[in-house]
Amino acid sequence: MRRLLLLLPMTWVLAGCPVDFQGWGGMKQQAKALPYRESPFFADDRAMRQPPPGTVPRDRRGKDRFFLTGKDTPDGGFVDAIPLTLTREIVESGRKSFDIYCAACHGILGDGDAQVARNMGLREPPSLLDLPPYPDGYYYEVISVGYGLMPAYAEKLTPEQRWAVVAYVRALQESQRARLEDVPPEARPLLLKEGTP
Ligand code: HEC
Repeated sequence: MRRLLLLLPMTWVLAGCPVDFQGWGGMKQQAKALPYRESPFFADDRAMRQPPPGTVPRDRRGKDRFFLTGKDTPDGGFVDAIPLTLTREIVESGRKSFDIYCAACHGILGDGDAQVARNMGLREPPSLLDLPPYPDGYYYEVISVGYGLMPAYAEKLTPEQRWAVVAYVRALQESQRARLEDVPPEARPLLLKEGTP
């Protein structure tokens, strides 16, 4: 019997003190601001705060506006060329992001041939290979803010990664337009062996 009595407080402790002990509800009930809730603490009654005007995230310091928005100032036109010195690493990282985030809809080759594309009834993701001659900044904008039924990727891809995707889309477009003469001579036999000319 005595053992049983000992067990009682132990089960209470192990169950994580479910009892509201003297009105103290545990950490669940502490005062805190929840997203989208009211807060009488601030003059505008909103718990969620805007960063002070002009705030720049630490990792964006030193980056210019063209780089972050893909747009030229002051007329707001799109940047013509990718504002990065392109290297093989950048294009390859663009390929990685493209394969993860874009290929499901636009196809591994960017030609719109993808399972998702075939099943998207409302608007099929288009081929990226025969679009009008858009400037590079336009692609950056579409990736950053989305386009029609296509979602935005600003949350998933940093500005650097978005430009890298633009570079890779350009590489895909180039690869589909290229003629055999555009390929370095040493690479031609392999191409001839792998594909139909
Ligand atoms: C969920 C499917 C989906 C994914 C993933 C997706 N797209 Fe799209 N994309 C679309 C659809 C659908 C459209 C056409 C939208 C419309 O016309 O309403 C489109 C349109 C576009 C356009 C053409 C815009 C124009 O002016 O015609 C570009 C460029 C583009 N996507 C690039 C990308 C890139 C780059 C990625 C990866 C970061 C990506 N998309 C990921 C579905 C997708």
